[in-house]
Amino acid sequence: MLENAVLVTGANRRIGHHIATRLHQEGYIVIAHYRTPTAEIQALVDLGITTVQADFVDSTAILQFIENLKACSASYRAIIHNASSFEPTATDLTVAATQYEQFFNVHMMAPFLINEALRSLMQGEGEDPADIIHITDINVENPTPNFDIYGTTKAGLHNMMLVLAKKYAPQIKVNAVAPGPVLFTEQHSEIVRQQMLAETPLAKEGGAEPVYLAVRSLLDNPFITGTSIAVDGGRRLSKR
Ligand SMILES: NC(=O)c1ccc[n+]([C@@H]2O[C@H](COP(=O)([O-])OP(=O)(O)OC[C@H]3O[C@@H](n4cnc5c(N)ncnc54)[C@H](OP(=O)(O)O)[C@@H]3O)[C@@H](O)[C@H]2O)c1
Repeated sequence: MLENAVLVTGANRRIGHHIATRLHQEGYIVIAHYRTPTAEIQALVDLGITTVQADFVDSTAILQFIENLKACSASYRAIIHNASSFEPTATDLTVAATQYEQFFNVHMMAPFLINEALRSLMQGEGEDPADIIHITDINVENPTPNFDIYGTTKAGLHNMMLVLAKKYAPQIKVNAVAPGPVLFTEQHSEIVRQQMLAETPLAKEGGAEPVYLAVRSLLDNPFITGTSIAVDGGRRLSKR
């Protein structure tokens, strides 16, 4: 049984994988959640990191995942909610309804149930509070119309950060990290990428490391709760 683990959800690729790897390098005891097995999750296993599989498809699956987490570690230093679904809203309302359920489950119900269930197991270092970090998006402040289901459920994750910062104080700090253009996806065409970079004062795709550095700065700081750090090269200032 582990102790003082840091849970990172969606650690089987890209930003979640980077955060899990870097926390492990820095000496944290990481539990890496994944949905789909990948070479990246195998790389975490090879580092000795505990991995737990779950598809946050419904409350039953999420509650079973929580039982598995309780069996893995007696206590938790931090939870980083990175798992996310990202796609434009379907024009067909039957498909959009399914998207709403999926995005709600991943961005809101899973973080809420995991936070509530592990709350009593969370311990900071010494007298300092433990940490919950919600990875949101600058869309929370300035949403993109054709990603409205994505944006509104991410805004729910942001609002949940605010209320849980009140509810869990003083034992647990709850904050958000809101990335902007850090790693493009297949959803971003070349035209869209160029437009996004043109709207970004720091004029580049930031990469996963700046997201990790924001997470790490929250873990290191014992007197920040209920706030969001934008990691977006300034794009929120000029995003249309
Ligand atoms: N990339 C950016 O520039 C950017 C910009 C703004 C915000 N963000 C935020 O930063 C975070 C990381 O971004 P990213 O680009 O690395 O994300 P990503 O590539 O889309 O990865 C998302 C992760 O969530 C998992 N996931 C999706 N649906 C799930 C479900 N139903 N149950 C369990 N796990 C599920 C995925 O697993 P599978 O591999 O199985 O699909 C994957 O591990 C996300 O929260 C994202 O919203 C990123």
